Amino acid sequence: MTNFNSPEAIYEAVQDRYGRIATDFTPQTAASCCDESTVCCDETAVTFGAGLYEVDLDNLPVDVTGLSLGCGDPIALANLMPGQTVLDLGSGGGIDCFLAAQRVGPSGHVIGVDMTPAMIDKANRNKAKVAADTVEFRLGHIEDLPVADDSVDVVVSNCVINLSPDKTAVFREAYRVLKPGGLLAVSDMVTQGQFSPEARADLAAWSGCITGAEDVAVYVAAMRQAGFSQISLRDKAAPHVELAGTISLAVAPRLFSARITAVK
Ligand SMILES: C[S@@+](CC[C@H](N)C(=O)[O-])C[C@H]1O[C@@H](n2cnc3c(N)ncnc32)[C@H](O)[C@@H]1O
Repeated sequence: MTNFNSPEAIYEAVQDRYGRIATDFTPQTAASCCDESTVCCDETAVTFGAGLYEVDLDNLPVDVTGLSLGCGDPIALANLMPGQTVLDLGSGGGIDCFLAAQRVGPSGHVIGVDMTPAMIDKANRNKAKVAADTVEFRLGHIEDLPVADDSVDVVVSNCVINLSPDKTAVFREAYRVLKPGGLLAVSDMVTQGQFSPEARADLAAWSGCITGAEDVAVYVAAMRQAGFSQISLRDKAAPHVELAGTISLAVAPRLFSARITAVK
């Protein structure tokens, strides 16, 4: 991927955006992945947030649901079982961690990793509100996970990998921490076709979950390179069509929310 910005500049822009969202959040000003400063939701057909979940969220407080910044429902893909250990990449305010905790039960364990200190603070305050004793939040980068090898049954992630300047490292790390046979279940923004280097240089659009999105063929190749098998990538809006083996012919990128699964 040609990219005008250094990884450090991308991390700074992403931490700045999500740090502000976490700090400024009140239940009255429910957040969005997008804010006033970017091309983003208004110019794409993509929606973000708690309305995307297939389950009832009534048992979670608005401090959790209002801070939902995802582009899908990775928990619906994860087929979680009691007793499992789950890792959420880019856990934000914690919504997917709390939903996972309900499914893995008291004998399970859920770890959320996020690089934005204000998000980790907010997630820990949410954890106290929902009394989710089996959930733990760790400050760290998803490209260098603070998680042991072969220790996780299921890795989930919701609208985060697109934000990473090094998606190869993200998949390598997810593979490292999964137990053999473990599942990767991801909602993420993906494209058919590539954004131009100029579009990628717009840090507001990148941090708004738009121009960091990678072409489906490149994305799937990075998963394969990490070692994943049984890779599936489908458009959330057309889930009957498998896209994992396809190459993109689009000249202008088509951005969509994808449901992605793979096995270690
Ligand atoms: C769009 S929000 C999604 C949050 C959450 N998954 C949800 O669905 O509400 C992106 C989150 O990922 C975190 N993040 C982005 N890039 C990251 C990286 N490279 N390492 C760790 N966290 C990252 C941000 O700090 C932010 O909290």
